Amino acid sequence: MQPADVFEWLEYSALAVYIRQSPLLFPAIEIVHIIGFIFLVGSAFLFDLRLLGVARRLSVKDVANYVLPWSRRSLIIVVPSGFLLFISQAKALSTNGVFGLKLILILIAFSNAGIFHRFTYRSVSNWSPSETPAAAKAAALMSLLLWTSVITCGRLIAYF
Ligand code: HEM
Repeated sequence: MQPADVFEWLEYSALAVYIRQSPLLFPAIEIVHIIGFIFLVGSAFLFDLRLLGVARRLSVKDVANYVLPWSRRSLIIVVPSGFLLFISQAKALSTNGVFGLKLILILIAFSNAGIFHRFTYRSVSNWSPSETPAAAKAAALMSLLLWTSVITCGRLIAYF
């Protein structure tokens, strides 16, 4: 079975046809998708700004412990809603370069966060309360840039 056959199968599945034929279901799922990534990207942005020196009176650890769980939890609605939006137009999106770029940028954004938590963040207890290490600042800048690019691609999908 070729990838094109899989996308065709997805697009003509009963669920995809139901989403396409229902006047309000696609926008309703898109609203859920938007609420989901508001939590995902919003909490990532708040943590990144703290790493860049905003709100220094709050410790990096306290900010992380409060906002990062929301980022993780949001995946429970961002990914399934994204998948439902995808299957409703799977054939077209499978050849949409902007959509492909969006998924690649999402993978790079998660890898950036993974490398930060695996290495840089391990020494957070030794960080000075007023100055975060250069590696943390670099990860924060990358994260802001990557998630902004993901959102830009997400919005532009419908125009390409
Ligand atoms: C993980 C982080 C993600 C973010 C930040 C994100 C962001 C966005 C944004 C900003 C939009 C445009 C919403 C609008 O303007 O109405 C969008 C639409 C969309 N997203 Fe995502 N998304 C994410 C994950 C996913 C995933 C994992 C998938 C698929 C598996 C996906 C599939 C889609 C589709 C199909 C659309 C609709 C495009 C259209 O308007 O036709 N998204 N997303």
